[in-house]
Amino acid sequence: MTTDNDLSIALYRSKAAGYDASAEFTMPLRRRTIALLQLQPGQTVLDVGAGTGLSYALLRAGVGDTGRVLAFEQSPDMFALARQRVQREGWANVWHANAAAEAVQLPALADAVLFNYTHDISRSPAAVANILRQVKPGARVAMAGIKYFPWWTGPLNLLAWLKNRPYNARAADLWEPWSLVAAQCKDFRWNSTQWGMGYIASATLKGPPR
Ligand SMILES: C[S@@+](CC[C@H](N)C(=O)[O-])C[C@H]1O[C@@H](n2cnc3c(N)ncnc32)[C@H](O)[C@@H]1O
Repeated sequence: MTTDNDLSIALYRSKAAGYDASAEFTMPLRRRTIALLQLQPGQTVLDVGAGTGLSYALLRAGVGDTGRVLAFEQSPDMFALARQRVQREGWANVWHANAAAEAVQLPALADAVLFNYTHDISRSPAAVANILRQVKPGARVAMAGIKYFPWWTGPLNLLAWLKNRPYNARAADLWEPWSLVAAQCKDFRWNSTQWGMGYIASATLKGPPR
């Protein structure tokens, strides 16, 4: 594992307990992002860097009882809460692992993949390659996260950087945080959210990464 992974794990050690409460206001954007996956009953959907599993219920609603949610999360503290959630709810069709994006091995290929506020993963070439090789060509991809404001807003980007820094090891890499994923997709489209400091994106996966 790299020092970025270690730093991220350390960051989330203190954030895990309060994460769900702090993420409450993100639920409308989370719903919008998941809707872009256009999930169908029976599909297998992958939740990348799933945190405490806040997206699991919405993803399960999309794929139904005959579908499957796959997920992974490298922070032991965040994953412990995701595991408790699955046990508490008795969700039999959620497979998840405490694993890093660069190394995780999924039990099946995914039909759709969600990157919801997973900046460090989206900026890691090794992580993106390992994930996308386990997703079916033609799969739906949806992303959301923080980005810099347009360059001409100048000092405002200090705000974006400051907001990103407590959560991400690669905090400054915010100009096109989707670019590694977009390079493997066709029809990649993104729009600004949060007055320019966020983005929401969707696409179709071209095929196995080159
Ligand atoms: C801002 S949280 C988002 C969590 C979740 N996607 C959500 O929407 O609530 C980012 C998550 O990515 C995880 N993460 C960061 N780098 C990772 C990596 N290389 N492999 C797996 N998980 C990682 C962090 O531990 C953290 O839980």
